Amino acid sequence: MRVISVAIPKGGEGKTTTSVNLAASLAAAEKKTLLIDADTLGASGISLGYTADQVKSGLYDVFNYTHSLNRVIYKTELTYLDFVPSNISTVQMEERLLRLSENRTVMRIALRDVEKQYDYIIIDCPPTLRGITTNALCASNSVIIPMRASHFSLDAVMRLMRYLKWIREVANPQIFVEGILLTMFEPNTKIAEITGRELRARYSKFLFKVVIPKNSTLAEAAFYGRPALLYNINSKGAQAYFELATEIIARDSVPGNVRDAGGDGPGSYGRVADSERDEKKNPSEPDSL
Ligand SMILES: Nc1ncnc2c1ncn2[C@@H]1O[C@H](COP(=O)(O)OP(=O)(O)OP(=O)(O)O)[C@@H](O)[C@H]1O
Ligand SMILES: [Mg+2]
Repeated sequence: MRVISVAIPKGGEGKTTTSVNLAASLAAAEKKTLLIDADTLGASGISLGYTADQVKSGLYDVFNYTHSLNRVIYKTELTYLDFVPSNISTVQMEERLLRLSENRTVMRIALRDVEKQYDYIIIDCPPTLRGITTNALCASNSVIIPMRASHFSLDAVMRLMRYLKWIREVANPQIFVEGILLTMFEPNTKIAEITGRELRARYSKFLFKVVIPKNSTLAEAAFYGRPALLYNINSKGAQAYFELATEIIARDSVPGNVRDAGGDGPGSYGRVADSERDEKKNPSEPDSL
């Protein structure tokens, strides 16, 4: 089982779109996949066609120790894709979840329940650090960082890299960066060119080969509550997420890869240790998280 968090501490970067469409593409490749909606807004659930009244239980109950993870798993249109919704309906629940998630190990322990059932677990994180994102990162083997081409997105990537360094020191020494994924990409624009240049200078080893183009089908599909591959399989968006899944599966099929986070071989791909070295080379960065 591989646990991958999709995270960046900034809103609207494509976390939910990436989580839903990557999970659907892994499932289409017949990998048993569980998508966990860790964002209290429940956007992943909406993107899969679940409305609040259909969700009777969810991640809140797991954090509240009233249900095991197994009891809050829902089926989807795709045979190989299951889903755990976020079932936060009041501000009080949201506040309580924040308190409950101060125990960083809740998610990690909950996942033990299902580790034999899935090849991949994808966690859609909220646009914040700490709280439930910390829980997700402590439970994950790796993290995908989706980002748009923008200055503020680059800042958010740097903040996350520093946060991962801390997570690695205090709670999850094995976590590595699966990759930085450019989303909503518009080629031949000045901002794409500048961001691309900055990314290659700082984080070139983390960049996924695939780039997700700006493609209205992805937004439309979410509106109709379906992953893009069930809405328009030939769209550029659906195809790009297939490519992303293929890139990840291909990496994982190399013997000794990624799980061997301590080695110098292919297993060291994109580890946070590498980012730490990059960070030290860059004195312009602030020290705070
Ligand atoms: N490649 C794309 N092309 C066009 N629109 C996109 C693309 N990716 C995402 N979008 C749209 O951009 C908006 C933000 O995307 P998304 O909800 O995935 O971001 P997010 O990082 O999860 O946001 P939040 O932090 O608020 O949870 C959504 O309306 C989504 O449909
Ligand atoms: Mg989201």
